Amino acid sequence: MIKIIKTVAQMREIIKEWRREGQTIGLVPTMGYLHEGHASLIDASKRDNGRTVVSDFVNPIQFGPTEDLESYPRDMDRDSALAEEHGADVIFAPQAEEMYRPGFSSFVDMTVLTQELCGLSRPTHFRGVCTVVSKLFNIVTPDRAYFGKKDAQQLAVIKHMVSDLNMDIEIIGCPIVRESDGLAKSSRNTYLNGEERQAALALSKAVGLGSDMVSKGETSCKKIIEAMKELIEAEPLARIDYVKIVDEADMQQIETIDRPALCAMAVYIGKTRLIDNFFTSDVKGAQK
Ligand code: PAF
Repeated sequence: MIKIIKTVAQMREIIKEWRREGQTIGLVPTMGYLHEGHASLIDASKRDNGRTVVSDFVNPIQFGPTEDLESYPRDMDRDSALAEEHGADVIFAPQAEEMYRPGFSSFVDMTVLTQELCGLSRPTHFRGVCTVVSKLFNIVTPDRAYFGKKDAQQLAVIKHMVSDLNMDIEIIGCPIVRESDGLAKSSRNTYLNGEERQAALALSKAVGLGSDMVSKGETSCKKIIEAMKELIEAEPLARIDYVKIVDEADMQQIETIDRPALCAMAVYIGKTRLIDNFFTSDVKGAQK
């Protein structure tokens, strides 16, 4: 059985041992309820590193007051089975009481990249993400850390943080993993009932439509966004939070696709907020 490490001290001991052996270390940060998307990150880490740590911690400080912290799905048995199957070496599952002791008051905040997209609807989210990821980096001291491209803004924010704060860690973004019908894998998909699960396909269909327009040479962000919104709005259970196209480098909105861009969306299906996206640099035939 894969080891589940519950304290910072134990995790540090294991890291010291691995370093003595000359191992390189990969970290896959997660909030648990692992799925094939996480599995692909573990696989990537296994390919690149001697040892792989999967952190499994539902980070309270990245949830807003009205968000789903209490109901966020948790299943350590399932997580350890998947992590073991994919060859992870340990799961690091610290307790919230140890991560955030009484009096905790140091945060890692970021200005520019967090002012758009999800940062607008979730104003304290990235401060929580940057803080916990910095803590995990300090505890595990990985050589490389793996994040999914589904959370495209998170990936950009973490890359920027590592560069700004001179953290000697390579950040690797891995492709979105989808269900066979296109829905991007997410722990939150478990909230969807049958009807909502069908309705949620509006997101991946909009991604398909948008990337198709880009591949055919459309460069007007307005036209692409309008077409994607129209498709999503035709689904009665869907409510758009945003559909936007931003410069991939600084996450600021652009009018024309004349540089590498990210087309990202957040859409409520019933009460569940889902995200999806595409990078124009991944679209064949797109303006480079
Ligand atoms: O992407 C996630 O699951 C979380 O935001 C992360 C990076 C594990 C930080 O809690």
